[in-house]
This record gives sequence, C-alpha cells and structure tokens, in this order.
Amino acid sequence: TSSPEAALVDGLIEAIPDFPEPGIVFRDLTPVFADGPALKALATAVTAPFEGRFDSIGGLEARGFLIAGAASIVSGAGVLSVRKAGKLPRAVLSQEYTLEYGTAALEVHVDQLPKGSRVLIVDDVLATGGTALAAVNLIERAGWHVAGFGAALELDGLGGRAKLEARGVETFSLLCY
Ligand code: PRP
Ligand code: ADE
Repeated sequence: TSSPEAALVDGLIEAIPDFPEPGIVFRDLTPVFADGPALKALATAVTAPFEGRFDSIGGLEARGFLIAGAASIVSGAGVLSVRKAGKLPRAVLSQEYTLEYGTAALEVHVDQLPKGSRVLIVDDVLATGGTALAAVNLIERAGWHVAGFGAALELDGLGGRAKLEARGVETFSLLCY
C-alpha cells in the first residue's frame, strides 16, 4: 500500500472466509465505515483523482451509499441514489446484473439529474464488475455521463477493472487484493 490513507484503510479491512457462501473470501469494510478518520480518508481518496470532473456521486446500495455520503461532504457534490430493485417510488430505469454470488437489479429515477450530468460512481468493492457495469449502463441510459468509478478495494483477477476499462470508464481503487 502506497499512501497513508491506503495503509489506514487497509489495516481495518477484515477477510471472512466462506461468507456469504463457501469459497468466497468476504472483505468486510464495516470497521472502515465505523472509523471517522478512515472513512474521511477513503472518501477523499476515491474522489481526488476525478476532482473537477463530476457533478454528482452515484452511490451503489448498500455499502456504496456509506462512501457516497462521505464523498459528498468532502467534495460538495450531491448523491445519486442507485438502488436495488423495488425501492424507488417514481419512474425508474432498471438494469439486471450477476454478482460473485447471485443476481440482482439496480435502479435509478429516470429524471433524477439534468441530461449530461457527470456522475462519479463509488462503491466499496470492485469484484467481477457486474454491479459497477450495471450502474454504468443505467447512468448512460438515463442520458448522463460516467465521470469514472472509484472503489475502496479491487479484487484482482475477477475482471472488474477490465470490464469497466473496455467500456471506457476510468477506474480507481485505493487498494488491490
Ligand atoms: C457487493 C459490493 C459491490 C458488489 C461488487 O455488494 O458492495 O457492490 O458486491 O461485486 P461485483 O463487482 O462482482 O458486482 P452486494 O451486492 O453484496 O450488496 P450490498 O452492498 O447491499 O451488501
Ligand atoms: N462483493 C463481491 N465480492 C465481494 C467480496 N469478496 N467481499 C466483499 N464484497 C464483495
């Protein structure tokens, strides 16, 4: 790990074997979220590479919301709620995707931001990239522009970064395991 911020966050992440199913090593960031200075360092680190290039922060439910809220305060941009299916009350766009464990769908309110808005997507973990790519699809279908993707942690070897970069999405992660 190359920076004091990365070292601070890295020291708080726990690896839980066989959760939520056998064979998965779950990277738990709740200790990072529970630590004020670490959460602030993380929020600063994921927004800094994109400074001046985004109007809104796309937070991915649920863990991405925690980073997005903190990133909103450090950057001054508001949060676009990218929610799991069935939670948003007005007209939505919906996108299905597959996870390292299971399938799901993400949604946004179609009219949440002005057309052409530049959205920085943030999340805790980039694994297969299915979730991040679903968010990219939603944002583009809504008529907004993806400014980039920032995560606390990237799991190398699952192909997430390659998928995002193939779509032309600039990708940053504070840590890589
Ligand atoms: C986790 C994580 C990312 C996603 C990464 O979320 O927070 O959003 O998986 O995996 P991927 O790159 O393979 O798509 P999860 O769907 O478990 O939901 P949660 O945030 O509600 O816990
Ligand atoms: N999301 C997808 N894969 C994950 C993992 N191994 N740990 C934590 N979150 C994840």
